[in-house]
Amino acid sequence: MEASGFEGSGRPFAVCGDELCCSGVGLRALAQEFGTPLYVYSGDQIAERARLFQDAFAGRAHTVCYAVKANSALAILRLLGEMGCGFDIVSGGELARVIAAAGPERARQWCGRVVFSGVGKTAEEIDAALAAGILLFNVESESELELLAARAELLGRKARFALRVNPDVFAETHPYISTGLSAHKFGIAIGLARAVYAQFRDHAWVEAAGVSVHIGSQIRQVEPFQASVDRVVALVRELRADGFDIRFVDAGGGLGIEYGAAEFDAAAQVSRYAEALRSALRDLQAHLLIEPGRFLVGQAGALVSTVLYTKRNGEKKFVITDAAMNDLIRPALYQAHHEIVPVMQVAGAAAETVDVVGPVCESGDFFARDRELPELEQGDLLALLDAGAYGLSLSSNYNTRLRPAEVLVTGGEAKLIRRRETYEELFAPEMV
Ligand code: LLP
Repeated sequence: MEASGFEGSGRPFAVCGDELCCSGVGLRALAQEFGTPLYVYSGDQIAERARLFQDAFAGRAHTVCYAVKANSALAILRLLGEMGCGFDIVSGGELARVIAAAGPERARQWCGRVVFSGVGKTAEEIDAALAAGILLFNVESESELELLAARAELLGRKARFALRVNPDVFAETHPYISTGLSAHKFGIAIGLARAVYAQFRDHAWVEAAGVSVHIGSQIRQVEPFQASVDRVVALVRELRADGFDIRFVDAGGGLGIEYGAAEFDAAAQVSRYAEALRSALRDLQAHLLIEPGRFLVGQAGALVSTVLYTKRNGEKKFVITDAAMNDLIRPALYQAHHEIVPVMQVAGAAAETVDVVGPVCESGDFFARDRELPELEQGDLLALLDAGAYGLSLSSNYNTRLRPAEVLVTGGEAKLIRRRETYEELFAPEMV
């Protein structure tokens, strides 16, 4: 890829001098200092993206609840929490992360901006969230609401809830990450929601405070968001007519980014998204919650890796990297495309068509197939772009591989935010 290929790409990675940099910091030195595979994120871009959403909804009561699952690094949670963001969590572990990132003095306050989503909350997780005093439970089934009510009563802590409704809206995305159709496991059919709210009308321990929706992830069109919020707004009006004090509309996350070479204007995309939600909400007085994950952190991150070997098998040339599917599983799991860029830019390098693969013993362990890249040699550094979302958070220790270290670049300064694991840590929970 030419240096000029990054302009207008929406990425904080650009060529400076003869190498690829993250917000001005060279990746070669980071790879030398911290080793590879290494995740490098631009904290500047994450902050800038969060600000885009906050500004786009200025003038309307709202909270940006960052979807922790996209990248749950404590340092990133800290950065976003300090900007006033809330958090969308889906497990007790993510709640514990928010509390750890906040620190004891701010934990209570930050938990007051937490929404808890997910179809399978356990009693222990519900209890922890009740104790932490979270803002809202996004409840996905009648039986979950019954359990929430029972736990709230037992703990003597009233729970605010929203039903996550399934609006039956189709959004163009990968089938594994589409959620808004009635065929999916998520939410409660919107047509049935009113009756479920009615069952819990005068409950002493659960209070209907909102309606929530989430139609899927990596959605590039804004119309499906508008269509789903339109349906939510109609339900909110009905519920208010039924006497419920519905204060929160949670529009979910899902706004997509550019993974390819096309130009991408993040600011324009956020304003289109905000316009779509504003026009669906019209004059409805409600506190808007949104749960962006990927849009905040996806393009901000790259996975830096070293070429271990190159080899030819028949017609094919393989570039074998020290990163593998356990570090970044998106290509293997979703056939996702990630741009791959050599860290050192060699002027006039010849191009060749290669498969970029990892060392894991699975044919699915690839980052790119038949990709045209500048000729690569053993020892070269590569950057897999747009790996900030669902990269490390979806990583594993498969093949007993240590997961990558992580570096956050803010204001021209690079900081290690997660050191590489050790084998001792990996084996610590085991007994022979
Ligand atoms: N809210 C809820 C309830 C969610 O389930 C999700 C993502 C989000 C918010 C954030 O969505 P985002 O803004 O990041 O699109 N591993 C897949 C993506 C799975 C998304 C799951 N839910 C990937 O790598 O593409």
